[in-house]
Amino acid sequence: MPMSSSIHHLLDAVPEGRRADVARRYAEHGPALRACLHSLYGGAPDFELWYGRLLCAAGALHAGRSPALAALDTARAAQPDWFLGQQMLGYCAYVDRLGGDLRGVAQRIAHLQELGVRYLHLLPFLKMREGENDGGFAVASFEEVDPRLGSNADLEALTASLRGAGISLCADFILNHVADDHPWALAARGGEQRLRGFFHLFPDRVLPDRYERTLGQVFPQAAPGNFTALPAAGGWAWTTFYPYQWDLNWSNPEVFFEMAGALLRLANRGIEVFRLDSTAFLWKREGTNCMNQPEAHLILQALRALASIVAPGVLLKAEAIVPMRELPAYFGQPAQPECHIAYHSSLMAAAWGALAEQDAALVRSVVAGTPVLPPHASWLSYVRCHDDIGWNVLRAEAGEGSGEDAQARLAAISRFFAGGEGGYARGEAFQSSDPHAAHGTTGMAASLVGLEGAQGAQEEEMAMRRLLLLHGLALSFGALPVLYMGDELGQANDYSFRERPDRAMDSRWLQRPQLDEARFAARHDRGTQAGRVYAGLRALVSARQRLPELAAGAPRTLLPASSALLALARGPGFLALYNFSGEPQRFMLEGRWRDVLAHGALAGEIILAPWAMHWLQRDHQQY
Ligand code: GLC
Repeated sequence: MPMSSSIHHLLDAVPEGRRADVARRYAEHGPALRACLHSLYGGAPDFELWYGRLLCAAGALHAGRSPALAALDTARAAQPDWFLGQQMLGYCAYVDRLGGDLRGVAQRIAHLQELGVRYLHLLPFLKMREGENDGGFAVASFEEVDPRLGSNADLEALTASLRGAGISLCADFILNHVADDHPWALAARGGEQRLRGFFHLFPDRVLPDRYERTLGQVFPQAAPGNFTALPAAGGWAWTTFYPYQWDLNWSNPEVFFEMAGALLRLANRGIEVFRLDSTAFLWKREGTNCMNQPEAHLILQALRALASIVAPGVLLKAEAIVPMRELPAYFGQPAQPECHIAYHSSLMAAAWGALAEQDAALVRSVVAGTPVLPPHASWLSYVRCHDDIGWNVLRAEAGEGSGEDAQARLAAISRFFAGGEGGYARGEAFQSSDPHAAHGTTGMAASLVGLEGAQGAQEEEMAMRRLLLLHGLALSFGALPVLYMGDELGQANDYSFRERPDRAMDSRWLQRPQLDEARFAARHDRGTQAGRVYAGLRALVSARQRLPELAAGAPRTLLPASSALLALARGPGFLALYNFSGEPQRFMLEGRWRDVLAHGALAGEIILAPWAMHWLQRDHQQY
């Protein structure tokens, strides 16, 4: 169908005053949209009809954007770098743990503002499966907020209040799977042919067994295998994650149609950023690990193009926990962009690994291997999140140089954080009972750095340094840094999940505590541990806000330093030094520098105390 005729489908429902803008955006992004969709679904005999129907629906959804969101679209389209500045700071929380429900979250806006937060990622809050639901990652409806957390009206009120406070709401868009009690899954189970086509269902084990030969496992202990038997309906369903999370079949154009509509409807409720969950798994191909397939990228590029046409205020963020070499593809190409943001899980894991090894080698290798991003794109940096620290993303880096087996090296790191080797950490090995294999590590940051177990002021001081070192790196790397709820107060592990049969098998619940009200109330009191963590973190955040060198896109270089030391320069004017070891480290400065945090002038040789960090700005007064 020529562009000129397909555009009528798009513009039909669009109000007169917005047509020119939408038409202009279609001229820009329509070719990519059509090309991606044609590659994916062009073989279907009714492709043209389907494409027209998609544009029609997208146009109608654009018409449903409120004047406030339409204004945001215009502003964001005019300033596509709006999320790259050094003032951007994210915060991630579960709705119930932060505020009880969505209305309670609105009561926390002042706290977020005090921290300098501009972006709030609320973990899944849409209607979730009854019973076990993977913390809401088993979605029973994309169209309604979970009644335990509020209503759609509450969501719209919250997004409006956040927008008013300069905070963008990010929500998970769980597009790889739905809950087994989602109406699509129920209908498929009931034998409805159209809905059976939404999933990967098999009559017997023949194909599942063939696929299994090359598939990995995400939860090898709690949910082994990738397929689940459906006794009542007969056959097997593809379930990459838990057995109650049914993978969607994205090779079916109707799945694209429904999911694109769901995303745009949520955008119309004021969600500005979508965390595209488990993006690596969207496309299945026998003989592969069914991750990072080219078609998965085409799906994401098509969603990006569609959003750029009808909701250009929206950002897409890739949650692809994959090795560094697979990550850049999630940003796409300048002519065919994909996600605006992607988690830098290699950086996060490498920083923890470096702490365990008391050697910055892993981080250096990740930083050196991090490519420059296309324009208007950013990494997401973080210290902890609701998931485990997955070690397997570091296999390539862990195999470099040391002559050691990568797997053994990562397993040693994992053992260290599980409290092994007489260390300070109080975490757990995730989904792995094999001491020679490394899967993941769970635990709150404060517990992993030794704050939970610290005895006396000296140990607490060392643990605090380790915590701030990790935050310092996330804040200075050149990314959108996202804090994880509770970390600003140094909250420790929550062991209560062991009492709950629906959670006991998944130790990620260790790091999902309620916001500690007592610590929260004490956050301004430096006589308390919470107060000291809060003050330390806020000092870093406010220093960062004044340093344009720390913006996402500013250049980064590694300077030579002793092995335990990471010397990260951001342009010629800024240098961050991180001592990953418990031994003092020397570093020779060239020229005169000012310590941004301690406010002193520095030159020549400096000695970094154990686990100390410095943020230095070149002292221009000499010139
Ligand atoms: C993502 C989420 C994780 C969840 C999984 C399945 O990786 O971060 O918490 O278990 O997807 O939805």
